[in-house]
Amino acid sequence: MPAHVIVGTQWGDEGKGRVVDWFAAQSDIVARYGGGDNAGHSIHVGSEIFKLHLVPSGITYPDTICVMGNGMVINPHTLARELRELAARGVDISPGRVLLSDAAHLILPTHIALDQAMEARRGGRAIGTTSRGIGPAYTDKAARAGLRAALLRHPGELARQARARIEQHNRVLEGAYEAQPVDAEQAIEALGEVAAFLAPYLSDTPLYLHQALAEGKTLLCEGAQATLLDLDHGDYPYVTSSSATVGGAITGLGIGPQHMARVTGVVKCFSTRVGAGPFPTELHDEMGDRLRGSGENPWDEFGTTTGRPRRCGWLDTVLVRYAARINGLTDIVITKLDVLSGIETLQVADAYRMDGTTLRELPRDLEILACCEPVYQPLPGWQEDISGARALADLPGAARQYVETVERLAGTPVSQVTVGPEREQVVETAHG
Ligand code: IMP
Repeated sequence: MPAHVIVGTQWGDEGKGRVVDWFAAQSDIVARYGGGDNAGHSIHVGSEIFKLHLVPSGITYPDTICVMGNGMVINPHTLARELRELAARGVDISPGRVLLSDAAHLILPTHIALDQAMEARRGGRAIGTTSRGIGPAYTDKAARAGLRAALLRHPGELARQARARIEQHNRVLEGAYEAQPVDAEQAIEALGEVAAFLAPYLSDTPLYLHQALAEGKTLLCEGAQATLLDLDHGDYPYVTSSSATVGGAITGLGIGPQHMARVTGVVKCFSTRVGAGPFPTELHDEMGDRLRGSGENPWDEFGTTTGRPRRCGWLDTVLVRYAARINGLTDIVITKLDVLSGIETLQVADAYRMDGTTLRELPRDLEILACCEPVYQPLPGWQEDISGARALADLPGAARQYVETVERLAGTPVSQVTVGPEREQVVETAHG
């Protein structure tokens, strides 16, 4: 299996981190291809929880090489902090084991200030971004005004370009948004300090990956965010600014499509969304609260990056079918099935209704989507604790029926079902 891509099929937070963690055990390299520290991946290893924002989820396996690809936007301070925290917990973070693309783009403090100012200006139409400067950093990249990570090797040029950019951003912050400017000299000094720490990690990662694949190494491409948050294929403008779908893995890592042998979509068995935007199956009742959890457990539905409570609702297989089509999914992993234990009747949306018409495909026009009502299939729930299941036969009949229904409605085989946060709490199917 040369390259295996993991993508989210909903609005993120499907549990991609733990799915990547599972497959990383069989991969030589794990590479992230897009986004930045807007992502938050939690991995449970025994009693330890690793919360990662930039470093790929393969880092907990000692022999796995971790690559941050050219498609990413990197806040250098977050990356340095994350690497130092991992080192303090005994994880090997030596350069050569962790590689940062020198073509990835840097997030500056003014990108963060602009993100916040733009959100404040949007008022009631705010996107609900993670305030990490992601949109403005990708805007600069597309405008050919961004700073590439390669500059971390060249302190003088880094300071010169960062000063020019920050001063320009400050003019926009003050002039257009009446917001506080960022202290350029302080920001440049802090950048210089962190540059010295990060420079040894820089690498021509597309070349590295090309050579590794030619040598027969296995590569796991770690998607961040998800299909419905993709800049092109998500519900724009309530999206992130990167290509979170399978195409992003090709451009964001610089490898050819012939390597992509498997594309696994991660499907949480109910739906969640953080931030604004359409959500046809959203529940505003006690069932929504039940799915969210109280927040006492690390796996409850509160943002890993922002701590925000996630909006919750029933599973929407219209979205999963859409994700299967956009990404060419070969299989899906259903996560968090244990969370549904104890609910009497479950609902799964398999179509929308609008003005008496039934729609089976996701409308791309937000004005139309806003008028859609989900069409639900009721399914029996189960009362048993399923966290000890390791084979489909261990699941109660109703849980198996739920999995089979998702598989049928998604039109894609289910390769795994997760039944708890621990690494081994996985049911493998014949498609695994
Ligand atoms: P941004 O990526 O911070 O610009 O946020 C844009 C939208 O994507 C907002 O709705 C965020 O809540 C959402 N978003 C970004 N990253 C993640 C993620 O890792 N999980 C879930 N939602 C995300």
